[in-house]
Amino acid sequence: MIIILLGPPGAGKGTIANEINRRVSIPIIATGDILRNAIEKNIDLGKKAKSFVVSGKLVPDEYIIKIVEDRIAEYDCENGFIFDGFPRTINQARELDMVFKKLNKNIDQVFYFDISYSTIINRLSARRVCTKCGAIYNLKYDPPEKADHCSKCGGKLIQRVDDQEDTIKKRVDVYNEETSPLVSYYEKKNILTRINADQDLKDRFEIIWHRLIEIGVIK
Ligand code: AP5
Repeated sequence: MIIILLGPPGAGKGTIANEINRRVSIPIIATGDILRNAIEKNIDLGKKAKSFVVSGKLVPDEYIIKIVEDRIAEYDCENGFIFDGFPRTINQARELDMVFKKLNKNIDQVFYFDISYSTIINRLSARRVCTKCGAIYNLKYDPPEKADHCSKCGGKLIQRVDDQEDTIKKRVDVYNEETSPLVSYYEKKNILTRINADQDLKDRFEIIWHRLIEIGVIK
């Protein structure tokens, strides 16, 4: 099963990816997480990507395609994976099509999360992420049991550097300009399902799960 989660910052792509991953054991490929990890470890990719991520701009396609090609070649991706935050430009989507053609793979479904601007700001300014296991919390909607600590593993919770209001606005502008054309790109291929991301997690997950059963990738 290969699925793509598409939508603006704060639409809930990471939250839904974790939810799907809890039920089907296929890995999540979150380009944002891979980049943040590389920045934290101060490795070559991180050094190149840092200024883009911190300022809310997209990291150049050439780095991203390489990350994805390397990641999907790993053994745990044999039975499928969930793309969270990739592709993000028409060029990335075309490159992905070419890679999949070579590998004889197909995208089963793209879930597009539609969300209002005020909800994005509201959610992202209250988001906290576990530094140890990556679990996502929200101080308003889904707070941890103990302040600043992950309820699942006890790890320290932090606010992402790109979750400041100015950077969130920049990320939304970049999304509107460079990523939103992917909605019609995948709609034309007839593999896109629109989801109202303003609704609660349970309802959203039900729609996605039902669709995966409908297209025959989940029994
Ligand atoms: P990335 O990490 O991918 O960030 P993003 O796409 O901006 O998305 P977010 O992770 O901010 O939001 P999300 O949709 O996952 O929402 P979440 O589930 O956390 O990218 C970061 C940066 O890396 C980019 O700016 C760029 O520089 C670079 N990059 C990454 N990929 C790239 C690529 N392919 N090409 C080029 N550059 C790339 O939810 C948000 C909050 O809302 C949470 O607190 C959650 O608890 C809460 N929430 C979720 N759903 C609900 C709900 N239904 N009700 C109430 N609260 C909810």
